[in-house]
Amino acid sequence: MGESRTPICDYEGSDYQEKFWEHGSREYEDRVEAIALKRLLPEDGTRLLEVGAGAGRNTSRYRGFRQIVLLDYSRTQIELAQQRLGESERYVYVVGDVYRLPFAQEVFDAATMIRTLHHLVEPQNALSQIRPTLVPGSIFILEYANKRNLKAVARWVFRRQSWSPFDPEQIEFAELNFNFHPRVVHTWLKQAGFSPGRKLTVSHFRLNLLKRLVPINVLVALDSMMQRTGDWAQLTPSVFQVSSVEGTPGRVREGSIWRCPECGSRELQKTTEGLSCRGCKRIWPVRNGIYDFKNPM
Ligand SMILES: C[S@@+](CC[C@H](N)C(=O)[O-])C[C@H]1O[C@@H](n2cnc3c(N)ncnc32)[C@H](O)[C@@H]1O
Repeated sequence: MGESRTPICDYEGSDYQEKFWEHGSREYEDRVEAIALKRLLPEDGTRLLEVGAGAGRNTSRYRGFRQIVLLDYSRTQIELAQQRLGESERYVYVVGDVYRLPFAQEVFDAATMIRTLHHLVEPQNALSQIRPTLVPGSIFILEYANKRNLKAVARWVFRRQSWSPFDPEQIEFAELNFNFHPRVVHTWLKQAGFSPGRKLTVSHFRLNLLKRLVPINVLVALDSMMQRTGDWAQLTPSVFQVSSVEGTPGRVREGSIWRCPECGSRELQKTTEGLSCRGCKRIWPVRNGIYDFKNPM
């Protein structure tokens, strides 16, 4: 069956969008992430892949792209995204696993993965799945949770925390929640075939006390200025790293974007039920405008 073999942080049925973002006093984090994305995104493009899209919190920020493909492991998150963004040819909603992406090679000219790497047990595997789906000249924006952040450094110095923020090893601070060392993420990106570029440090002031005392507009303006220091030092809990795919810039491949995540065949035929794979005979259902690559019929 379409079950992943790697442990997954399952958001099925989660109220993450509502609880964490809409009622969780995270306006500051949301706004500074929007600024970072705006700085790193190209003006326009053909087709962008959003990995771990969740409820589509960031999707409307990919303004210049003609089409956006939202992929998430959780069907309920994708359903929420569809409710928020609506059904249109511009948005393609996909339930799938980053470790077994259902996409052909070179069908995207941009990809993002925001607040998702920190749930991945096999981050390197995920990065090397994303890379072939991108055409040369593409960009990939990755947000990750930084273990070498100022708070962790202070806690370690004052012996309030046993693990060293300078140790390259990732830290699992809660089940399926990891913080990574920036140097290690850089190496993984290179190993996956990306050319890491500019870094922006984000959420410099993620402290409840500060958020209570200082007006949000001030914190956002200061964060926006400080994001540009990201290429010199990364001491924030969140880092936005842009990478490029080297090579002569080309156009995204025409035709179908799909590839069977089970057998790798590119021959998926549209039927009334969904996409039928000629290689392994599985049928990947399409229900209510959502492609499901997790549970074949
Ligand atoms: C913290 S949420 C972030 C959602 C969105 N990117 C945002 O910033 O609002 C992490 C998302 O990653 C998804 N996810 C976790 N593991 C995944 C996997 N193996 N493949 C695809 N999505 C995954 C979860 O279902 C969840 O929606």
